[in-house]
Amino acid sequence: MGNRILVFYGSYRSDRMGIRLADYVIERLRSRGDDVEFIDAKAVNLPILDRMYKEYPKGQAPAVLEDLAGKIRAADGFIFITGEYNWGVQPGLKNLTDHFLEEWFWRPAAIVSYSAGRLSGARAATAWHGTLSEMGMVVISSTIGVGPIGQTLSEKGEPIGDGGKALDHAFPRFADDLMWWVDAAKAQRQRKAPPY
Ligand SMILES: Cc1cc2nc3c(=O)[nH]c(=O)nc-3n(C[C@H](O)[C@H](O)[C@H](O)COP(=O)(O)O)c2cc1C
Repeated sequence: MGNRILVFYGSYRSDRMGIRLADYVIERLRSRGDDVEFIDAKAVNLPILDRMYKEYPKGQAPAVLEDLAGKIRAADGFIFITGEYNWGVQPGLKNLTDHFLEEWFWRPAAIVSYSAGRLSGARAATAWHGTLSEMGMVVISSTIGVGPIGQTLSEKGEPIGDGGKALDHAFPRFADDLMWWVDAAKAQRQRKAPPY
């Protein structure tokens, strides 16, 4: 099996569109041989943040947080599928990520944004860049931006039209970049334990 990658997505809307992009990314990574797990914030459905995972006494965090903390610690890298609400991030995914901190450290992360319009969620992607950096991830420079998502991916997450062609063209280079950093971070963690 290849690298262990967690793919996060966080729209809670009934008619959510970003799930198409999550499906696409997961399928493409698996076809490259990576060990991918989808973390759907809507399915996890954490309450609005009260205590962070680390604020519970050891062994007393709710099972859902314990489970997620283990998955985040064991991952080699992360992909965030990010939509844009009013020039900002989607609250469901932000709420999930805020429950953790040290669990994220020392791994690379990549941002894949989308929107209903042509700007492809670029403003949310910019916001996530700072947030993920603050949480101890190394955010790679390659990004994917998809817009309009309804004209780029079918309901099944299959590429359609010129937008779909452009996405298929961009994806391998994006994934190569992420996996290079994933390999680099993995090698460095084996060579030398993280300083804190
Ligand atoms: C509350 C809300 C705010 C939105 N704000 C923006 C925005 O600032 N920029 C944008 O390009 N699209 C915006 N949109 C349109 C979204 O890009 C589009 O609805 C997209 O499908 C949302 O992702 P989701 O379907 O996965 O929830 C907004 C949509 C909603 C529901």
